[in-house]
Amino acid sequence: MPSLSLSTAPGAKSSADALVIGIAKGKDGPVLAPGAEELDKAMKGRLLPALVALGATGATAEVTKLATLGGFAVPVVAAVGLGTAGASGRFGVESVRRAAGAAVRELAGRRSVACVLGGVNGDDAATLRAAGEGSLIGGYEFSRYRTVSAKERKAPVEAVTLLVAKGRDGKTAAAAVPRSVALATAVALTRDLVNTPPNDLHPVELADAARAAAKRAGVEVEVLDEKALRSGGFGGILAVGVGSANPPRLVHLSYRGRGAKASVALVGKGITFDSGGISLKPAAGMHEMKSDMAGAAAVIATVCAAADLRLAVDIDAWVPMAENMPGGGAYRPGDVVTMYGGRRVEVLNTDAEGRMILSDAIVRAAEDKPDYLVETSTLTGAQVVALGHRVAGVMGDEALSRRVAAAGDRSGEPMWPMPLPEEVRRGLDSPIADISQVNASGDRGAGMLTAGHFLAEFVPDGLPFAHIDIAGPSYNAGKPHGYTPTGATGVPVRTLVELLEDIAVSG
Ligand code: BES
Ligand code: ZN
Ligand code: MN
Repeated sequence: MPSLSLSTAPGAKSSADALVIGIAKGKDGPVLAPGAEELDKAMKGRLLPALVALGATGATAEVTKLATLGGFAVPVVAAVGLGTAGASGRFGVESVRRAAGAAVRELAGRRSVACVLGGVNGDDAATLRAAGEGSLIGGYEFSRYRTVSAKERKAPVEAVTLLVAKGRDGKTAAAAVPRSVALATAVALTRDLVNTPPNDLHPVELADAARAAAKRAGVEVEVLDEKALRSGGFGGILAVGVGSANPPRLVHLSYRGRGAKASVALVGKGITFDSGGISLKPAAGMHEMKSDMAGAAAVIATVCAAADLRLAVDIDAWVPMAENMPGGGAYRPGDVVTMYGGRRVEVLNTDAEGRMILSDAIVRAAEDKPDYLVETSTLTGAQVVALGHRVAGVMGDEALSRRVAAAGDRSGEPMWPMPLPEEVRRGLDSPIADISQVNASGDRGAGMLTAGHFLAEFVPDGLPFAHIDIAGPSYNAGKPHGYTPTGATGVPVRTLVELLEDIAVSG
């Protein structure tokens, strides 16, 4: 991830290796966005015609590079599309974030980049933050596993400088930098953990990574190993973990915010590899199931970011970790598992392992009587069918779900509230146990809502609960876009931090 700084030096005088400016879609064709005036003047008004000649249209995140041919210290100008401005003339914060990310990503191979996008909406903190955040998370690369081939690739940008107008309120501008850095650090940690191959990230290593991150951030951490899980009665985590040679873990992170008025429990799914277990998955795409711990990674990174930002909120995160494998001792369809807290679950499909480990963690988290409980997981393929790869599903308490979705919207991590209809809950009635793990009559309809209902069953009455299914948006198997690389995206870490900021202020 690049470093981030602020400067009031004019773009035309920048000594960076490249200068990022904005280009928008106007009524009669592309127009330069605010921040490029001086440069255009110094180029005698030839900047826009040159960009148009190179094919620039102003479409969001489209990058057009132009050599300055010795006329300026900066050798390259990268004009990035911001799309169409709103009725008020403002650009959407997410357009700025995506544009900044795409520009920095496409400028790989250069060391330093200066960027004027933080000023396209005038003296506005949210836009400056978006430019900083987008630049940093667009400049992310996961190169740990490249040895020989690393030499043939362009290195990511090392330093980003946000150029701001001289007259701008210096204090709010300066505050944008640490906030962008804290968020981008959390995104990078989430992505690194999710991208790490499953042979290097078993539950033990994931717990170690959580411990290391927590230590760095000054967050308290406690790790329950398989022995502690057994004596504690965490039957769901143990059942899933027993099919693997790599034992399960439950990690508890706690952060106490100064002046906190509210407490939040976070839970994240940490399946380090999901083979499906005895109900084995098909081979195609199975490698992507290394990302089945994206919820865990995001929750770990969120607590650390909250500590970095000193948010005035108390947080207890419970992160269950297991590997779902079809070993000789594995749990099987037909088993009845006694969960933490005593409820009995009839197992019908060992590939529905997420809800088994999460319910133990939810019951444990609720024991401490938090004001809110937010859980996130790559829980169902049905989420991907319903909402695709860019939009997460939110279920549970209506008011809290709406608040989560609004935080997602502000973060550029779109989410949509989903219902938990009563008749779907009835599908979980088991002929022999307290509850069945999946629909007992084999009905595969509403798979996302069935899973949401199962989790909600373990939440005590009166505790506001939200479940965020991130099966699609947490991992990008396709091409990079905006600030999103191929592989782990970091979703929903920015939403969780944004939500905690909201709760720290409003309770
Ligand atoms: N980890 C998967 C869900 C998943 C699918 C995440 C695709 C990301 C992309 C989960 O454990 C799973 O296997 N769910 C099953 C549930 C079913 C057996 C009720 C599913 O969705 O098929
Ligand atoms: Zn899974
Ligand atoms: Mn599964």
